[in-house]
Amino acid sequence: MKKGTQLYEGKAKKVFLTDDNDLVIQEFKDDATAFNNKKKGTIADKGVVNNAISCKLFTMLEEHGIRTHLVEKLSDREMLCRHLDIIKVEVVARNIAAGSLVKRYGFAEGTVLENPIIELYLKDDDLDDPLMNESHAVALGVATFEELFVLKNCAAEINVVLKQFFAERKLKLVDFKLEFGRHKGEILLGDEISPDTCRFWDLETNEKLDKDRFRFDLGGVENAYSEVQKRVLGLD
Ligand code: TMP
Repeated sequence: MKKGTQLYEGKAKKVFLTDDNDLVIQEFKDDATAFNNKKKGTIADKGVVNNAISCKLFTMLEEHGIRTHLVEKLSDREMLCRHLDIIKVEVVARNIAAGSLVKRYGFAEGTVLENPIIELYLKDDDLDDPLMNESHAVALGVATFEELFVLKNCAAEINVVLKQFFAERKLKLVDFKLEFGRHKGEILLGDEISPDTCRFWDLETNEKLDKDRFRFDLGGVENAYSEVQKRVLGLD
């Protein structure tokens, strides 16, 4: 597999073309941003950790019948992926109130949500990824109603699988963000699933083990990421 020209550089990853039109290489960086680039830094070895966690979780989801863009883990920082036409919608699933849900609606942080909340955001950094509903997304031309129905159902299904997986590893899955893309008439899960894109709290102590440690300068960022990696990969 030959790594070709760079297709795209995002805040946490670069994407490269390959000699196969259908495949791209996703390279994970150590760069960290928060609040849409207002806060910037690096987290040592984050790229290695997030690649390892994402590959493990995508493989596990595939075993549960969820189609993802993962082809194989190529190296410490590189994931070989199917080339998706990314849908410009970020799908957030929430099990416990935290982050923007607390700010926007006044929930007390930590409130357990009896029914998971699924939200749609427009993937557009210039607009600060605004919250939107299905009719906004369709009016903007980013997805069809049918696609949004698939995205929301798929996110709910993934939530059930991930919640159980993390509970077995003594982690509460508070909330997380997913991205999807079109590929040969199918919708596949894309991007990554990692402590950058999820909130994890320790099951017993509620200690935050995710990017909130970076966002709010809580310290111990690298340790939190490697603790999640250990639990996900079953190392100790
Ligand atoms: P929020 O509470 O800030 O809306 O975030 C909800 C979840 O989505 C949280 O697990 C972090 C994740 N997320 C991203 O992965 N990227 C983003 O740009 C944002 C805003 C949130």
